Amino acid sequence: MSNSQIQIFDTTLRDGEQVPGCKLNTEQKLIIARQLEKLGVDVIEAGFPISSPGDFKSVKAISETVKHVTVCGLTRAVQKDIEVAAEALKGAKRPRIHTGIGTSDSHIKYKFNSTREEILVRAYDAVRYAKSFVEDVEFYAEDAGRTDNEYLARVCEAAIKAGATVLNIPDTTGYCLPSEYGAKIKYLMEHVKGIEKAILSCHCHNDLGLATANSIEGVINGARQIECTINGVGERAGNTALEEVVMILKQHPYLNLDTHINSKEIYKTSQLVSNHMGVYTQPNKAIVGSNAFAHSSGIHQDGMIKNRETYEIIDPKEVGVTDSAIILTARSGRAALAYRAKNIGYELTKLQLDEVYASFLLFADTKKEVDDNDIHEIIVTSAVYPQIISA
Ligand code: KIV
Ligand code: ZN
Repeated sequence: MSNSQIQIFDTTLRDGEQVPGCKLNTEQKLIIARQLEKLGVDVIEAGFPISSPGDFKSVKAISETVKHVTVCGLTRAVQKDIEVAAEALKGAKRPRIHTGIGTSDSHIKYKFNSTREEILVRAYDAVRYAKSFVEDVEFYAEDAGRTDNEYLARVCEAAIKAGATVLNIPDTTGYCLPSEYGAKIKYLMEHVKGIEKAILSCHCHNDLGLATANSIEGVINGARQIECTINGVGERAGNTALEEVVMILKQHPYLNLDTHINSKEIYKTSQLVSNHMGVYTQPNKAIVGSNAFAHSSGIHQDGMIKNRETYEIIDPKEVGVTDSAIILTARSGRAALAYRAKNIGYELTKLQLDEVYASFLLFADTKKEVDDNDIHEIIVTSAVYPQIISA
């Protein structure tokens, strides 16, 4: 793997599926997993096998189906979890066990009623045990975002000694600022002995709306994997959105960080996940929202019609969206009306446009959005219609 390659670890089917009320059945998970493979993700976290027979079945089915992607199963630092995950992953060409434990003082005290030293031993033992089943073992330090960096570095060292190939540094509660999360990754890159034997992974939650920014800071500071979900779905405010980090890296080539994602499959994947989960993306969601490439104000529309790059930094076709949309509302100008009229077959002169535009404005004040039928109606009822058809 080249040093500029960022691995995309998709956890839509595990962390993403933790959205309340979004349970997917095995058939739906298989459909999504096949699409994720087409999208070009490097790792699919298929589920948490010990959590339910349904999850076990899904991880097993995905392991036996996808061919070119690593399939990963989550466990706690508990032997039985690891055994069950190993069993579910048996059919995978590239199996990965993702095991770990909470490392912040709050998790150590309240969740485990334990001590830092004991947790260190549990982390080591869990990785070692997972390693007896598979070669590829990822370790997560849950709540790493609020874990003291010096202690976190010691935990990472223990996990590497036990054979971890990936060290996941989750900002489980979405608390970190981008500068803080980036500094944490930098600290680990500089202080963990043996770090060259593993890669660091960013796993950020969006409680303060910073998941994407934190993941990007993470890779700028040396992490080489991003854990994310389609549409940013996930518990509470969700996870890092795959489409956002992928397009940020693509739109900023000077960062020299690439992914294997075929961005033209992004919109299709977004729709598929949204439909199966029954979770609809907000219209203004970056990259995949219905308004992400829609323009409705007169000034913007005028610019867009002259040259798309005036108001768009991404060509919608790059993410699999057919085209930008010029939406007609009471704030639209003549250029947009002429453009949309032309799309349905009416070429208007300047004088004709002035006349039709006056009627359009009156009509637009009564309706949120003016559609093609409305434009047609406005034109055929206008005084200039006979001149338009005889032209
Ligand atoms: O957010 C988190 O800490 C997690 C871990 C279980 C990886 O999802
Ligand atoms: Zn998570």
